[in-house]
Amino acid sequence: MIHPVIMAGGTGSRLWPLSRQLNPKQFLKLTDGPLSMLQSTVARLDGMDAQKPLLICNEEHRFLAAEQMRQSGHEDSCIILEPCGRNTAPAIALAALQLCENADGDDPLMLVLAADHLIKDVDAFQKGVAQAVPLAQDGKLVTFGIVPHQPETGYGYIHRGSELAVDCYSVDGFVEKPDIQTAKAYLASGEYLWNSGMFLFGARQYLTELELHRPDILSACRAAMTDTSKDLHFIRVNSELFAECPSESVDYAVMEKTDHAAVVSLDAGWSDIGSWSALWDVSDKDSNGNSLNGDVIAHQTRDTLVRADSRLVATIGVDDLVIIETKDAILVAHKDKVQDVKAVVEQIRSDG
Ligand code: GDD
Ligand code: MG
Repeated sequence: MIHPVIMAGGTGSRLWPLSRQLNPKQFLKLTDGPLSMLQSTVARLDGMDAQKPLLICNEEHRFLAAEQMRQSGHEDSCIILEPCGRNTAPAIALAALQLCENADGDDPLMLVLAADHLIKDVDAFQKGVAQAVPLAQDGKLVTFGIVPHQPETGYGYIHRGSELAVDCYSVDGFVEKPDIQTAKAYLASGEYLWNSGMFLFGARQYLTELELHRPDILSACRAAMTDTSKDLHFIRVNSELFAECPSESVDYAVMEKTDHAAVVSLDAGWSDIGSWSALWDVSDKDSNGNSLNGDVIAHQTRDTLVRADSRLVATIGVDDLVIIETKDAILVAHKDKVQDVKAVVEQIRSDG
């Protein structure tokens, strides 16, 4: 039986001004339909032979997370609360330690999911997970790989090795977030897949690999987990001990270093809604290429994303913009520059 683990502790700062510190993107409804990104992640598990999802997120989002899980019919799901963000390697370690504590004998299979992905073909996703199960049972750390269509520098790249089974490969190399020249060379070679940031592996297997490559992270997580406090379905780790843990992503801490990686190639309409242009890419658009949400009049406007939350927004004679209107802030950006939203957020934070 699979144990889904949903990581929902990111800040989503590139989706400001909609995504805010107290309401980051994984809790927002960004695409069509009634569900938030987190709830869509949960709904994607429907019909799978899986346990209730285990959620791991920041303490300050506990009520938001619990309420959204309740709405999704998982009011009794366990939620691990991190007092501070230490990135994904520690988050997965806390979840693995929790699963091992409740497991008898077997190595519980963890399906690690990010809470901010869009997957259009849920059947293909579930089929991919089923293909990964025998590999994970065989001690592999399985990632799900996406055929790249552009030289994206915000993703990890997997060098595909020999074929192990249909759509399943060994991994000859894993490079997290390469520079643009390297990303272009990888794309041209046709031998690389994007790391989707979703994984399937045994919890004990993960802890063994972490012990080998980052024993400092493992020992800090073990210490923080031996002194937890529980109320309702929340598990709070010890804040002083967890603060001592180094911050590192699973990609750098384990996936780049392990000899036991495997990849399942996934064609499921996957995307990471990492920026406003990524959202425009996957949105339904009108005949002018505009994605308009809310009270919007777009006149002689092309390839533009407009989201009006509280007021009428009108545009005239503009192309390739992102316009996000909220009650207290408005973003107007060129679609090619939306990565820099992060810099604006940093400035707002430092201005205090
Ligand atoms: N609980 C918890 N704690 N969750 C976290 C933390 C943390 O400290 N930091 C990030 N997360 C969650 C985010 O909410 C998101 O759901 C997921 O972990 C991945 O984190 P991101 O910060 O979005 O990672 P990324 O997009 O830069 O890179 C990862 O995903 C790419 C694909 O989207 C990597 O795995 C890349 O290799 C991959 O290509
Ligand atoms: Mg991401």
